[in-house]
Amino acid sequence: MRIICLLFLFAAAIADETYIYKTEYLQTPVDHFSFTNNETFQLRYLINDTFWRNGGPIFFYTGNEGDITMFAQNTGFMWELGQQLDAMVIFAEHRYYGKSMPFGDKSYAEPKYLGYLTSTQALADYVYLLDFIQKSYKKEPTRIPVIAFGGSYGGMLAAWLRQKYSYAVDGAVASSAPIYQFQGLTDCTAFNNIVSKVYKVSSQNAVRNIKKSWSVIKNITGNDEGKLWLSKEWKLCKPLNSSQDITDLTEALEELYGNIAMINYNYPTNFLAPVPANPVQALCDRIDQSNLDGKDLLTALGKAISIYTNYTGAVKCLDFNSTAGSLGINGWDFQACTEMVMPMCTNLSNEMFEPSAWDFKKTVDDCYKKFGVRITRDDLAILAYGGKEAEYSNLIFTNGLLDPWSSGGVLKSNTRSVYAIIIPDGAHHLDLRSSNSKDRSSVISARENIRNIIQIWLKLYKQTYN
Ligand SMILES: *[C@@H]1O[C@H](CO)[C@@H](O)[C@H](O)[C@H]1NC(C)=O
Ligand SMILES: *[C@@H]1O[C@H](CO)[C@@H](O)[C@H](O)[C@H]1NC(C)=O
Ligand SMILES: *[C@@H]1O[C@H](CO)[C@@H](O)[C@H](O)[C@H]1NC(C)=O
Ligand SMILES: *[C@@H]1O[C@H](CO)[C@@H](O)[C@H](O)[C@H]1NC(C)=O
Ligand SMILES: *[C@@H]1O[C@H](CO)[C@@H](O)[C@H](O)[C@H]1NC(C)=O
Ligand SMILES: *[C@@H]1O[C@H](CO)[C@@H](O)[C@H](O)[C@H]1NC(C)=O
Ligand SMILES: *[C@@H]1O[C@H](CO)[C@@H](O)[C@H](O)[C@H]1NC(C)=O
Repeated sequence: MRIICLLFLFAAAIADETYIYKTEYLQTPVDHFSFTNNETFQLRYLINDTFWRNGGPIFFYTGNEGDITMFAQNTGFMWELGQQLDAMVIFAEHRYYGKSMPFGDKSYAEPKYLGYLTSTQALADYVYLLDFIQKSYKKEPTRIPVIAFGGSYGGMLAAWLRQKYSYAVDGAVASSAPIYQFQGLTDCTAFNNIVSKVYKVSSQNAVRNIKKSWSVIKNITGNDEGKLWLSKEWKLCKPLNSSQDITDLTEALEELYGNIAMINYNYPTNFLAPVPANPVQALCDRIDQSNLDGKDLLTALGKAISIYTNYTGAVKCLDFNSTAGSLGINGWDFQACTEMVMPMCTNLSNEMFEPSAWDFKKTVDDCYKKFGVRITRDDLAILAYGGKEAEYSNLIFTNGLLDPWSSGGVLKSNTRSVYAIIIPDGAHHLDLRSSNSKDRSSVISARENIRNIIQIWLKLYKQTYN
């Protein structure tokens, strides 16, 4: 079963640098929870205090699984709002990603080094950093109020940081944060059902063709001649040679469909590669025929996926490893093998994928082969953070309903001071992106809501402490 990377899109190099900051490092303990390991490492963070004034807050991005500079460049909303609200803006890098390697080049080499890659250690890094910032900057006896922000896994961390360390963080904005995507909290079919729904809105034919393609791929690649044909037709960098290669290919395709749904924004974006506006529609348009079958179907499908894999036309050969985003992927795989096990499956009702069961035992075995660690229970994140029993306050959860990850998101709230903001036509953490002339009213009003709520929190903070 494939492991879906939450934020693959940040794993790519960003060409244009819009936002400016100072890069700093803080010496941070490798292990916050024992007194038997006194090693430290340099945690990277990006800071801009130029607009911080009048007792303004700290806006603190809880970095997720990738190089933090990419999050800084892709979270324009935080910069725009920060300037309006006189905030100091900080982006903290998640340990084991980017330049924040606890054991340098050895960090990923052995389980004894990689074992400190956990969300609980990362949260402890963030409070450690916030404590340092408070001590360095505050002028008055009271603290500087802190609002945490994060998208996707970073959104989960923002919510958990507020939950676990409420003394250090006064409120949090958790965008597209699937904190319920864990064993027993969300049906394992939910994510893939949303993927199918998103494609179906664009084209019923396309959905039927994709569903048909799984058996066609198996059929055609059943012999050497067919393997050779498809390798040539799709210009694969590494020709298909074994049944494992076919499995890898179909898993990469499944992942790709989900990824395109996540970045299904209504204006062109440029993460891994340039992608047109409404990429799902663009893909579906190329397979929007009812009579496609056999090699014709696979030829058309190759052209369809190229809106994502080769939109510029500059890609010489197709390597699904690189389209998935290479940087940081290993780290997320390890997390998904340990604390962050997210059951995913499809059943017969799914309109786009073949049925495939969730198999915890196989996941554990694969993880052991890959990383040399073996977990014994599938609910460690629930144990750590409480799942649906968790109590929150001063939290904003935002979700786009066209985002597959909304499957595990918090879509309603009965608690005062916990808000669930829905963007019906939004993809993955659309609200955190910078404003765009193409923005629809749904995301514009979501951002206004967020601003109003944060202003209320800050006002209450002032009333309490001044
Ligand atoms: C903060 O951002 C502003 C606007 O881009 C820029 O002018 C300023 O130099 C930045 N400050 C720091 C400390 O990088
Ligand atoms: C870290 O622990 C080792 C072994 O216990 C000790 O020799 C060393 O002085 C300690 N280093 C620091 C910076 O405390
Ligand atoms: C593919 O399907 C066709 C028609 O259904 C069948 O004749 C052929 O044997 C199949 N090929 C393989 C390799 O399974
Ligand atoms: C697969 O690899 C083997 C060994 O290198 C080779 O003999 C065979 O022709 C290859 N098959 C295909 C379909 O490329
Ligand atoms: C993709 O990565 C896998 C695992 O690291 C590797 O076995 C495979 O050869 C890679 N494929 C290509 C085309 O580089
Ligand atoms: C990418 O597109 C260009 C231009 O259409 C084409 O020449 C090239 O073969 C394509 N690459 C792949 C891997 O399909
Ligand atoms: C598929 O799973 C959903 C959600 O659990 C369930 O409602 C539906 O009945 C299942 N369909 C089949 C054919 O198993």
